[in-house]
Amino acid sequence: MSKNILVTGGLGFIGSHTVVALHEAGFNPVIVDNLSNSKLGILDHIEHITGKKPKFYEEDVLHNVDMEIILENENIDGVIHFAAYKSVSESLEDPFSYYENNVGGLMSLMSAMKFTDCTKLVFSSSCTVYGEPDVIPVDEQSPVKQATTAYGSTKQVCEIMLRDNTWLDSIALRYFNPVGGHESGMLGELPLGTPNNLVPYLTQTAAGIREQLTVFGDDYDTRDGSCIRDFIHVMDLAEAHVKAVERLFDEDRDMNKEKQSPDTKNFEVFNVGTGKGYTVLELINKFEEVNGIRVNYKVGPRRDGDIVRIWADTTKSYWGLGWQAKRDLGDMMKDAWSWQQNLPGTDIFE
Ligand code: WQD
Repeated sequence: MSKNILVTGGLGFIGSHTVVALHEAGFNPVIVDNLSNSKLGILDHIEHITGKKPKFYEEDVLHNVDMEIILENENIDGVIHFAAYKSVSESLEDPFSYYENNVGGLMSLMSAMKFTDCTKLVFSSSCTVYGEPDVIPVDEQSPVKQATTAYGSTKQVCEIMLRDNTWLDSIALRYFNPVGGHESGMLGELPLGTPNNLVPYLTQTAAGIREQLTVFGDDYDTRDGSCIRDFIHVMDLAEAHVKAVERLFDEDRDMNKEKQSPDTKNFEVFNVGTGKGYTVLELINKFEEVNGIRVNYKVGPRRDGDIVRIWADTTKSYWGLGWQAKRDLGDMMKDAWSWQQNLPGTDIFE
């Protein structure tokens, strides 16, 4: 009997790809999404890829009685919690709504899980908890620093809530920079409005939707002056979530070993990156190379809040999750572009 996994924010960028990966691994994903940052049409695209339309509830995790009803009615065995606001720059302008939604949303979900005795949770965390790391690559014991934005602070607070609630068996996945889309071209990043992130802005520029991409600074102390990030294919990230769910249900996993901080008996943290860093300019060049098109960009001033360099030490994820990224930067750029090219014709924007 396949386990029922509730995916909050399951029509979003990472959530939708994880729903596909869960299905492919034999789980039964159930989606909750309030459509505040996603489109209902994505559900049909998931069905097109998997051959099965997942159960969907248009609901907000902040409504915890409704969440209790869904957890009970769907006999949920475990939860993957994506539903949160995620714009670093937006969180600087409106910190309160980031705490209300990201921390309040997790509180509400945990309350519903406790009420229905559902104790397995995978949480969407972020490498932003490391701030500007002193040592690169960052491993999970790298110090969590004072966050530079409310977005990063909410991720730190949520991790503490999971660790301190010992009735919950949880795993926090610290993402690096998710990019790309499903190989079918049917799923990808769908920023509503002007994209904050590099890759959707790049693909919209290549598609002629945006006039010109601005590279935020080329005077950093890096090999070509632009920032370095650990870009990871969204399907590799999705597959890491499946491994985390499988670990939570693995009765034999090494939970009894003396845990090293930040892990405890009920809470584990894993970095989910490729372990490789590429500069912004290297990513643009790779995009042009694999897709055979030129990107119109200029170099502009640095963006406030940007860190210079970060990439992951993925040793713990390799041994603890039995997972490693398989797709390279070329795959990411190819799949990002094929998604962008499909966008005008899809029914998502009916
Ligand atoms: C990447 C680089 C910019 C836009 C993201 C997510 C965050 C977290 C970590 C998951 C930076 C440069 C960008 C542009 C540019 N992931 N850039 N021109 O800031 O690393 O954060 O990954 O939790 O949620 O937002 O990603 O794509 O915004 O920036 O030059 O138009 O690209 O300066 O160096 P970031 P990003």
